[in-house]
Amino acid sequence: MCGIVGYTGKQAAVPILLNGLERLEYRGYDSAGVAVVSPEKGLQIEKCKGRLQVLRDKLAALPPLTGSTGLGHTRWATHGEPNDVNSHPHVSQNGQVAVVHNGIIENYVEIKEFLLHKGVAFRSDTDSEVVAQLLEYTFNNCADIMDAVYQVLDRLEGAYALGILCVDAPDTLIAARKDAPLLLGYGDGESFIASDATAIIAHTRDVAYMEDGEVAVLTADGIRVYDEYRRPIEKEHHLIEWDVSAAEKGGYAHFMFKEIMEQPEALRRTISPRLRDGEIVFDELSLTDEDLRRFDRLYIVACGSSYHVGMVGKYDLERFLRMPVEVCLASEFRYSEPLVDDRSLVIVISQSGETLDSLAALRKAKSLGGYILSIVNVVGSSIARESDSVLYTWAGPEIAVATTKAYSTQLALLTMLGLYMARRLGRADSAEYAAVTAELALLPEKLQTVLASADAYQYLASLYFNRDCVFFIGRNLDYALGLEGSLKLKEISYIHSESYAAGELKHGTISLIEQGTLVVALATYGPLFDKAVSNIVEVKARGAEVVALTTDSLRDRMEKIATHTLSVPDTHPALQPNLGVVPLQLFAYYIALQRGCDIDKPKNLAKSVTVE
Ligand code: G6P
Repeated sequence: MCGIVGYTGKQAAVPILLNGLERLEYRGYDSAGVAVVSPEKGLQIEKCKGRLQVLRDKLAALPPLTGSTGLGHTRWATHGEPNDVNSHPHVSQNGQVAVVHNGIIENYVEIKEFLLHKGVAFRSDTDSEVVAQLLEYTFNNCADIMDAVYQVLDRLEGAYALGILCVDAPDTLIAARKDAPLLLGYGDGESFIASDATAIIAHTRDVAYMEDGEVAVLTADGIRVYDEYRRPIEKEHHLIEWDVSAAEKGGYAHFMFKEIMEQPEALRRTISPRLRDGEIVFDELSLTDEDLRRFDRLYIVACGSSYHVGMVGKYDLERFLRMPVEVCLASEFRYSEPLVDDRSLVIVISQSGETLDSLAALRKAKSLGGYILSIVNVVGSSIARESDSVLYTWAGPEIAVATTKAYSTQLALLTMLGLYMARRLGRADSAEYAAVTAELALLPEKLQTVLASADAYQYLASLYFNRDCVFFIGRNLDYALGLEGSLKLKEISYIHSESYAAGELKHGTISLIEQGTLVVALATYGPLFDKAVSNIVEVKARGAEVVALTTDSLRDRMEKIATHTLSVPDTHPALQPNLGVVPLQLFAYYIALQRGCDIDKPKNLAKSVTVE
């Protein structure tokens, strides 16, 4: 949700900023802008509505913006429609400061009124502009830009990652953070800020994650960081383990397709280090036996696809652990009165580790005494840092807005966690434990064979891409899987789709089934295969065309019933959704492709949602 990149060093800033923005565009793509500052020319800014390419074209037609210190921003609009004026960077009235912002300034109306009274003229409808205007106003009344920054931060309410340029310090970049991600990059004679590492990985892998309340002052010579009381602090450095190729398309037409194809490798990286001689091992977990025995209830809290992982997890974990598991949407959980206490284990699932609702839910659960264990992909992200324990999915950077490999790795890790806890609590059935761990080791290989059938999904997509409504049905794990299949389809193809527990059909939804309605029936969960067949027969009797997904061993039986049958290799039922999700991802992908959709950047969406 909005991407920020900043550079100060010896090179021309604009090309570095534009390349950084290209990698951040998945965070928001309704407008983009850059600002550079130089002693000779002061602040120079170009920004416009539209994709980054529009800005690139605009810049190419102009004399170059010269300067070695600058900021770039790609926007996902919250306050004020996407247009040229509302784009970032925002410049103060007299052109002394420029600001890029990610987050929401909640008290911007009050600040704006104050400044309007003082005669400040505003240009945009954004909450972000108040930061630039207030900074200039404050700076005019105090000696030093840092004094002004601290005074302004003191007045801001809400969430922000800020990049600040000031004409009086043309070789300096200032950054501040509260409840929105921002990291610092240490280069050789150059320094960076970025919303995430993908934006600067081409230049440095040496980073530090800013914490709430911190302010950083960057020059070519290095970075100084201060806490909220302006005391200097030493930051812990982290080495980014992947390189620039992981954040590039590498010959694929879309990031989404590349990331779907990367799933076997991502799963291998996530599973293998935690599977030793048939035992699940989580060296990174600090849970004691006493902690484990104390828990009498488990919550899974997340948003979007991560929430769908939780929906699958509920079935597996309740069965493994014989403990109630509640799956909660983070945006609901944070404003409810959950019964969390010190006997609750709260699992927060998030690819980005920055989703604001999930972070707020985490804090709520923590304040109620819950033990927070997070499953996160982005190392050093806010959710990871604020958890009692973190399990990282080693999926690598995920760029496409619609998640695929992050979902798969989260799912595998959650199942492993459930089984691991059951084992430690003495509740695991040893035959089942052995069967699941054996299948876990085979999962990447089996997934590879699912990917090898991509042509079959493409063919089906060519038959159904022009539908305007699709139903997904399934029971138990297949119901939870359908939620993700349906979300994938609607996110990227804009086809209206619904996912139903198959047994619920007769309580209403079946009235929507008519001649030619497309129903995607999920029947990979062996124990309820016959029930799934009954539901398929019911919808077919009302004219539906049924694309069924089952396992290889049940394929023959399904082929006699469904209009089209797809199958994935058999595995342990607890892991079957890990294979089942892939045809659904590819079906959605190929349908979106046929419809000419912007697959990696679907309209109105953003990958990392750092606003409410
Ligand atoms: C956005 C993304 C989804 C993602 C959800 C939760 O809506 O488009 O793909 O599932 O956020 O994100 P998280 O990073 O917390 O998993």
